[in-house]
Amino acid sequence: MLKIALACDHAGVELKECVKEYLQEKGLPFHDFGTFDDKPVDYPDLAHRAAEAVRKGLYERAILICGTGIGVAIAANKLKGIRAAQCHDSYSARSSRAHNDANVLTLGARVVGPGLALEIVAVFLETPFQGGRHLKRVSKIHALEE
Ligand code: RB5
Repeated sequence: MLKIALACDHAGVELKECVKEYLQEKGLPFHDFGTFDDKPVDYPDLAHRAAEAVRKGLYERAILICGTGIGVAIAANKLKGIRAAQCHDSYSARSSRAHNDANVLTLGARVVGPGLALEIVAVFLETPFQGGRHLKRVSKIHALEE
């Protein structure tokens, strides 16, 4: 079963709670790396905590939330082996998994409401990597990290 790391900055706390409820309903195990209230924090710190746990293999996926989904995506993508995708529609979420083997989903709590966000989360968690021609391309992303 997929283990999921969650993190957000102060802008994402409410949406992260919705994601947690969804994961609980689905019986999917997760760990919440914070933050837990609206006291301002720096999104790279939170993104790093959860993405590092994925990089180490402790979790298969992470879901990171900030105001736009951009800051946490930029920060997470600095870590080797992390392929973070900011998705605000289900087509992108599906493609990020099927084509890019994304292991981190980022969401902007000030961009999407909880209904759409949870649909995106569902697609992201349910879609397998297609492999095939996409594997060569993902390998080329790995090569860029060296
Ligand atoms: C915080 O105000 C905001 O800058 C942050 O949540 C995020 O949108 C950054 O990319």
